[in-house]
Amino acid sequence: MGFCMTKGHGIGFGKAILFNEHFVVYGIPSIVSAIGNYTVAKVEVYDKPGFKLVDKRPATPKYKEDKLDQQKESFELMFKKMGVDLLKKGVSITLEGNLFAASGIGASAASCVAVARALAEYFNMTLSDEEINEIAFEGEKGYHGTPSGVDNTASTYGGLIWFQKGEKNIIDRIALSNPVEIVIGNTGKVTDTKAAVDGVKQRKEMNQKKYQEVFDRAENIAYLAKRAIQDRSFTNVGKLMNENHKLLQQIEVSSRELDFLVNIARDAGALGAKLTGGGLGGNMIALTPGKELQNKVATAIEKEGFQTVKTVIGASRESVEHI
Ligand code: PMV
Repeated sequence: MGFCMTKGHGIGFGKAILFNEHFVVYGIPSIVSAIGNYTVAKVEVYDKPGFKLVDKRPATPKYKEDKLDQQKESFELMFKKMGVDLLKKGVSITLEGNLFAASGIGASAASCVAVARALAEYFNMTLSDEEINEIAFEGEKGYHGTPSGVDNTASTYGGLIWFQKGEKNIIDRIALSNPVEIVIGNTGKVTDTKAAVDGVKQRKEMNQKKYQEVFDRAENIAYLAKRAIQDRSFTNVGKLMNENHKLLQQIEVSSRELDFLVNIARDAGALGAKLTGGGLGGNMIALTPGKELQNKVATAIEKEGFQTVKTVIGASRESVEHI
């Protein structure tokens, strides 16, 4: 490693999976979007070997404590992948930004991408987005075990992305001329994505025929949704989100709280609503084009005592360049 900059700085987007979380693990196409909220990482010199973490991100209670061991493991994996040696001189890593550290909105991926970018700047490495994405994928393994790579991809590139896991992942940008308003509702329950993914695997093995049908429909929905987004036909996108939620219920990754928030959002006029991310708690997403509808849906959820984030899908790197 050559000389170090005095400071390194990087951002990673939060994300919302619009279609096919869980199915994506098995190679079914998914649609994921960066949201307008992001994590910022700052890397500075630390006068001891190793690393010090200062985590200033807003968070769901207990999230940071619950994830601390996984977070440390994730950092170690990224240091290794980047060839960063902290034995002689350590680094202090500060995490901040306006992305809630919560389950289901890509908090872990956003922090991996932000840290990878900040370390690259600090150690004066010139890395492409593809390389940053690979490092963040390595970091995600600390949290997920065997992540599909969908989260870190959205977090790295921004925008709206068609993602299909394979020997070589297919990563295609879906054009969306303007970002679209969404509401993310937080059940307040911190969940374990790895456990949710393991549960699907077990049930899939035990109910092969039923799961095959559900997986086939999920694949079909991805293609229909891509077309609907490209046509800016948000009523159809919403309907497909509702159907996608049904499939997620069938593979048993929804929860009472998620279904409750999904119904509230629909009753308040959301064009569609579904769980987003690992499920079993964590977050749901409602499609609410226009500020008025967004406020209405967010208020309905908040009235029931749940936290919301009002943000957009399709957030681009350019839109946050000032950070
Ligand atoms: O729980 P999250 O927000 O990190 O999302 C996980 C998405 C899954 O499809 C359930 C798992 C994966 O690795 O893609």
